[in-house]
Amino acid sequence: MNKPTMEQIISLCKRRGFVFPSSEIYGGMAGIYDYGHYGLLLKDNIRQAWLKSMIQMREDVVGLDSAIFMHPTTWKASGHIDGFNDPQVDCRNCKSRFRADHILEDFGISADKASIEFINEELDKLREQKKLVCPNCGKAELTEARVFSMMVKSNLGSPVDVLSEENVTYLRPETCGGIYLEYKNTLDSLHPKIPFGIAQVGKAFRNEIAARQFIFRTREFEQMEMQYFHKKENTKSVFEDWHKTRWQWYLDLGIPEEKLNWHKHEKLAHYASEAFDIEYNFSSIEGFKEVEGIHARGDWDLSQHSKFSGVDLSYFEEETKERFVPHIVETSAGLARQLLMFIDNAYTEEQTSSGETRVFLNLAPVLAPIKCAVFPLLKNKPELVEKAREVFLSLRKSFMCEFDDNGNVGKRYRRQDEIGTPFCIVVDFDTLGEHPELLDTVTVRDRNTGEQERIAIKDLESYILERIK
Ligand code: GAP
Repeated sequence: MNKPTMEQIISLCKRRGFVFPSSEIYGGMAGIYDYGHYGLLLKDNIRQAWLKSMIQMREDVVGLDSAIFMHPTTWKASGHIDGFNDPQVDCRNCKSRFRADHILEDFGISADKASIEFINEELDKLREQKKLVCPNCGKAELTEARVFSMMVKSNLGSPVDVLSEENVTYLRPETCGGIYLEYKNTLDSLHPKIPFGIAQVGKAFRNEIAARQFIFRTREFEQMEMQYFHKKENTKSVFEDWHKTRWQWYLDLGIPEEKLNWHKHEKLAHYASEAFDIEYNFSSIEGFKEVEGIHARGDWDLSQHSKFSGVDLSYFEEETKERFVPHIVETSAGLARQLLMFIDNAYTEEQTSSGETRVFLNLAPVLAPIKCAVFPLLKNKPELVEKAREVFLSLRKSFMCEFDDNGNVGKRYRRQDEIGTPFCIVVDFDTLGEHPELLDTVTVRDRNTGEQERIAIKDLESYILERIK
């Protein structure tokens, strides 16, 4: 069975060192999380898989790692300072805070990017029908909606004037801003020809009104974004190509197609010509939710930054002698949201023949934090321990590998199952030559089936490498 609840996922993430609530010893902070050893490794494997598909496997996309702080005018030009708002309602009774559009959604009213006037009219209708109550305490005490900026403000500057208005900066609310600002330097240094893309993975910060659903919606998160610069007349084909490419990425990493869905945006930003979300059917949140957006953004971004900076961001095409401002198709995915998706999809519970419940993470081997674990059959036999450590020290040069001699072998298997390790290797007396024909062989246990194979130590590295590609 692999229909985990959110409680099961949160419990496994904490128990096994994937994700911890941040600042827990001080009571925690809403919407902020820390990633433990296995969370870091899983996140890094997702990031590497994305970078590989975007950069290593393509000749038309280059990478970037831009700063989190950018010139404050960046956010004026992009419209974020004036328009990056969410509608907020408060409960006068229990003081909880909610996104008004989410409350309307619960009544089947779509209010995504709707005006504050529309939202308040819809809330009033529900209030008149006596249906509008606080989702937390159940009292009819919700305020009217007001706009709330999601930009996270900071100050940079010398200590004397650090609080002055000129020193106000913002933590970026999305990573693509850095891509637009480095578009010209990328062109001037790498000389890519249009069409080309710039990809980056990095932190973004949003003052979410209601950070919720564990790491699905947080205030500090990472995005994996790619902006593809192209000629206006090619937008349709570029958009379709990225549509297919991004969908395939999920399938390649083990997400079943029936758990994915395209959601077409009906309300578009004034500059956008098309916007779709890829949604995944989360068992832990119960329903299809956005994991990535693919947007045709026109020439809005470069035109705005050109206007506000006074720098010409047009492109000259040698072959046609045409000069134009490139249009952009963007792909934008949340890294932690993907981590939650991969765990949600991989979490499996089964009954063993001895009546126990076994939990394992059926992660694609390429994503698994640890690729193999090596155990001596018994911890109190130095010759077994020595041989197992020899195997471990050799394999860890090629991939993440763990040595474990704690408790009995069954317990060690359970621990590795819960962190998704695809292979467990046991060094036993046959490895040492109890049956001479089995000298220098080990058992390799498959995480999903529990089946074991006997493999020569000299073939272990290639055996595992072949299966984790
Ligand atoms: N540049 C476009 C952009 O940022 P978005 O729909 O706001 O678009 C893109 O965000 C993706 O970033 C989402 O599909 C989601 O995966 C992730 N994301 C957005 N807000 C998030 C949050 N508060 N916490 C975690 N992930 C978030």
